[in-house]
Amino acid sequence: MRLSHSVVMQRLLSRCCRVALPSSVALLAVLLVASVSRAETEEVMLGDPSLTAGVPGAGPITVSEIETWLADPANFVELKPILPLGLSQGAAQITGLEENPLTRAKIELGRQLYFDPRLSKDSTVSCASCHDPSMGYTAHTKTGIGIDGQAGGRNSPVAYNRILSGKQFWDGRVDSLEAQAVGPIANPI
Ligand code: HEC
Repeated sequence: MRLSHSVVMQRLLSRCCRVALPSSVALLAVLLVASVSRAETEEVMLGDPSLTAGVPGAGPITVSEIETWLADPANFVELKPILPLGLSQGAAQITGLEENPLTRAKIELGRQLYFDPRLSKDSTVSCASCHDPSMGYTAHTKTGIGIDGQAGGRNSPVAYNRILSGKQFWDGRVDSLEAQAVGPIANPI
């Protein structure tokens, strides 16, 4: 897959990942803001609908809507996920939040990217093509089907609650979700 940028993605990426900083003054400002927001944390139930409610508004998202949303410091507060009854036994299995703290801004970036077919070479396939929310975050196909109808070699696993495991993929060949995310983007299928 080939990554193509939209203005919205750039806004989210630049705020979430602190890229493309114009000067050392800006760097200092960003670090100060980051350290202030890091001091606060918010406990939130995994699956809380507010986490995936998205940027408010109807129709195609606008740059001003996203800038207003990004200006809200609440979207950069570090989140401590609490697991609902039934999953709470798995709390100890959560890994990676120290290295990559969770915020509402990162969740929204991930949500936007997840449903965006522009992540694929010919803009036809998104993560949701193979991990479709209406199909339990998987697909009703024997193996993953990518661009040009190409069939992969493995069945698409359910892609939710993956925060409860460090290892990802059927064979556990990567140790984090960050490492897993490179897979679909780089995959020729
Ligand atoms: C063409 C179909 C396809 C697309 C598109 C796709 N995936 Fe997958 N995904 C798979 C398959 C197949 C596997 C299992 C591969 C393996 O085990 O080698 C997988 C594995 C995963 C896993 C590991 C799940 C587990 O149980 O270990 C996660 C998480 C995941 N995908 C998320 C994503 C995300 C996020 C995207 C978009 C950036 C994406 N996938 C795009 C088919 C797809």
